[in-house]
Amino acid sequence: MRKKTVIMAAAALGLLLAGLAAQALVKSGEQALGTRKYSEYQTPQFCGTSCHGDIYQQWRQAMMSQAYTHHWDEIEYFKLAVPHAEKDSVVAGVKAGCNGCHAPIAFLAGDVPPPLPEKNSRANESVSCEVCHTAVGFGGDVPHNFNFISSPGRTKYGPRAGRNSPEHDLARSDFLNKAEFCGTCHNEMSPYGVWVKSTQLEWKDGPYSREGVRCHDCHMTYADGFSAAMGNRYPDVRQHLFHGAHDNGKVAGVIELRVHPDIREAEPGDRVKFTIALFNQKTGHKFPSGSVEDRIVWMHVEAVDAAGRVYHLPVDRKGFAGEEFTIGSDVLAYQDMGIALNDPGFKGVQRDGIPLGDRIFRMPYFDPQGRMTIQQWNTKSQGVDYRIGPRETKLETCTFTLPQDVAIGPLQVTAVLNYQKLVKPVADFLGVPADESEIVRVNAHTTSIEVVD
Ligand code: HEC
Ligand code: HEC
Ligand code: HEC
Ligand code: HEC
Repeated sequence: MRKKTVIMAAAALGLLLAGLAAQALVKSGEQALGTRKYSEYQTPQFCGTSCHGDIYQQWRQAMMSQAYTHHWDEIEYFKLAVPHAEKDSVVAGVKAGCNGCHAPIAFLAGDVPPPLPEKNSRANESVSCEVCHTAVGFGGDVPHNFNFISSPGRTKYGPRAGRNSPEHDLARSDFLNKAEFCGTCHNEMSPYGVWVKSTQLEWKDGPYSREGVRCHDCHMTYADGFSAAMGNRYPDVRQHLFHGAHDNGKVAGVIELRVHPDIREAEPGDRVKFTIALFNQKTGHKFPSGSVEDRIVWMHVEAVDAAGRVYHLPVDRKGFAGEEFTIGSDVLAYQDMGIALNDPGFKGVQRDGIPLGDRIFRMPYFDPQGRMTIQQWNTKSQGVDYRIGPRETKLETCTFTLPQDVAIGPLQVTAVLNYQKLVKPVADFLGVPADESEIVRVNAHTTSIEVVD
């Protein structure tokens, strides 16, 4: 080996070691609490009013800018999580930890619990520009529980490099453009070691990751334009839409439904089997994903005869373990809200709030006592995962015995898939504004058979 090569190799090794040492000192996740100051980060208003007006306006409409202030977030954090954390040492960490993803700069600044949203503190910035554009990597092996590494300063990280901004330097990042970056907040492990949010992990197991389609390709799409007022024009400016469960248009058509009967003509008293195929054509992860403990997706099937009489068709049972949690039923759940609400004997509220017998596509979360919970931090185990995976088709059947008095003529059968961000009985009980539990129609399909005599 020539001397020069040896020196270069040694220098490279030195750099590598220095890099590793620096990495070891950099704190991420829970360890990063209180390691920064608010003054190290610009406000989104600063980024938005001076140069990035368009991106700022997109972000303002996205949930990212409301992660701390949004009504349901405020209610769940202050009414349930904080009081619960003060009573139960196992979950004590969430008092600070919720903010690691919902108000990351407040968390990094050690301002926890942050002032109420009405105080208009810097926690209200939620997931701001600087949270993402100072992220340089993540600690550990799996992105989760806000383990991104924050490196604020003059250099901002993004898709392009250069010094064309008077305000900051730009470094091209190979981290921000990866799903792992999103995974630092979109995967969450509960204090009991259960994956209570796994959007990036679901994506990784699914077809889109194999084809190189990332979160960004569906939630931050590209368009021609300017990314900064005084900057260059690009054909592929990253849009900061982050449209998801709170955008009814994004939810619309996620699943396609097709209903077909086993026979086209039947007489009163005959049995007809309707098969419904539900195909997930739109999500890169399961549906629902993210806050799975809150969401409810259900299929309602009805038949209408020639005289206009309506019959509700409950879904046929398949017989798998845990199926009872996937069928609308008249039972109480969510008793563990009583801990935070100082009501140890709390009986709970209705589990589903939907028509009995309808199929629910969900994964139930269970508290340490085995009762269903919407408190993801209090989740010790999970039940059957009956959500619809990316590009998966689920088949359901409804067997209907035609009543003796059914009208002769066409019988129309319609399957509707509905979605609610928060199960309604919980929303009503906690006083969460109605938009969080509005019924969103995902899709529907109708077929008909002929009733003859
Ligand atoms: C610093 C943490 C953090 C990072 C990093 C992050 N998110 Fe989020 N994201 C959140 C939080 C918190 C919310 C929930 C806001 C709310 O509803 O309270 C959210 C909401 C969303 C939503 C809206 C979901 C809905 O219910 O409507 C989408 C879509 C989304 N994020 C996509 C992404 C993508 C894509 C990336 C990566 C490019 C990403 N996120 C990176 C924290 C993060
Ligand atoms: C192929 C397109 C596609 C890809 C890839 C994709 N998503 Fe989505 N995502 C959607 C659609 C459509 C919805 C709306 C339906 C829904 O709420 O699940 C959605 C919903 C969401 C939601 C709200 C979920 C819920 O049910 O509350 C979050 C959060 C989210 N995506 C984050 C991500 C992240 C993070 C990634 C990458 C790991 C990603 N998405 C990849 C299409 C995609
Ligand atoms: C949740 C994380 C997140 C938040 C919040 C966020 N960004 Fe971004 N931003 C990204 C990602 C990811 C990219 C694209 C990275 C890539 O494709 O390599 C990006 C790209 C950009 C770009 C480059 C666009 C281009 O195509 O040249 C600008 C400029 C930008 N962001 C500004 C902002 C501003 C200003 C805000 C606040 C109003 C903001 N961002 C908020 C994650 C975020
Ligand atoms: C690892 C990051 C992370 C942590 C920690 C976290 N969240 Fe979230 N939270 C998210 C993301 C990402 C979403 C958006 C998921 C979706 O849209 O489905 C979200 C959504 C929510 C929602 C909104 C549900 C809706 O309807 O959109 C509430 C309320 C919430 N979180 C409360 C909390 C509370 C309270 C805590 C602490 C006990 C907490 N979160 C801890 C990342 C986190």
